[in-house]
Amino acid sequence: MPKEAISRLDDNTIREKVLPYCRLKPGEIWEDPLKKHRIGVLDATSRKDCKKINNCKNVDLFIQDPPYNIAVGNKNTNQLSRINIENYLEFSKNWIENSLDMMSDNSHFYIWLGADQKRGFQPLPEFMILMRQYEELKSRSFISLRNQRGYGTQKNWMAVRQELLYYTKGDPAFKVTYTDIPKVLKGYYKTINGVKTDNLERGKSDTIRPGNIWLDIQQVFYRMEENIPGAYAQKPLKSIERIIKTSSKEGDIVADFFAHSGTTLMASERLNRRCITFDMDPVFAELTIRRLERYRETGKTGWQWENPFPEISSNDPLLS
Ligand SMILES: C[S@@+](CC[C@H](N)C(=O)[O-])C[C@H]1O[C@@H](n2cnc3c(N)ncnc32)[C@H](O)[C@@H]1O
Repeated sequence: MPKEAISRLDDNTIREKVLPYCRLKPGEIWEDPLKKHRIGVLDATSRKDCKKINNCKNVDLFIQDPPYNIAVGNKNTNQLSRINIENYLEFSKNWIENSLDMMSDNSHFYIWLGADQKRGFQPLPEFMILMRQYEELKSRSFISLRNQRGYGTQKNWMAVRQELLYYTKGDPAFKVTYTDIPKVLKGYYKTINGVKTDNLERGKSDTIRPGNIWLDIQQVFYRMEENIPGAYAQKPLKSIERIIKTSSKEGDIVADFFAHSGTTLMASERLNRRCITFDMDPVFAELTIRRLERYRETGKTGWQWENPFPEISSNDPLLS
């Protein structure tokens, strides 16, 4: 059975091998000559860095996927570690305020987050309360994405969720999207103009709306084309495309301060939006640029189980 070429790109020994092949150094920005996307190696908490990549209030849609303040796979790496909640809130405050600086008058703001069930569900509740202080933002929805695989199956309910908070500024347009799940259940009768109708007659689509619990999105794993070996926190393309289709239109500017495997960029490219994105780690910024280049060359959305850094021999014992 094939195996992913790289397990974790944030692992320091692998990072050091990959770093020489990254075209951007901290503080640098790559400008896409074709569709004007911008990709940088910047720090989301630094006002100076954020202004460097975009000094305007022109972002129509933010999709932010910050570290969740948990140690993934019990590894504490520079990119993904657990810090105390006060420091996490300070980190959050900084990147939120840098995002607010770029939001257009009528815009959308989505944030992915987790709740650590072993530690009082931090940081979700603290983060939600922090968001209340930004009066220009209106809370709109609290979405849960169901993961296919989970943890804690023996002595607890299996944890299979990721949270997505949705806020708006001003009054931006919202376009209803549908899942691929067919409407099969008849019911929800309602009398309209004296005639009793059921939901199948009344609905505009043959499929159901996603609502705020997303059950229909496959978690990324190494058999899927979109898989990016080494990216431990990759979001499914379908989830980001759903957000973009619902909350923006062609030509809009979409921004993401935590690029990682570049899913927001990939979705923006496919849906003709312009993307401003960065990661503080040159390895993930490089991966994001390579993913775009590969898509344009081959039409593929990821590497599946192949190595995104073929400069590094697949015989390297570190990669097995
Ligand atoms: C949860 S991942 C994002 C996953 C991404 N949405 C995807 O689908 O690939 C978080 C990323 O944030 C980056 N990061 C952490 N702190 C950062 C900071 N202060 N500024 C910018 N990026 C940061 C990490 O290097 C990591 O790649």
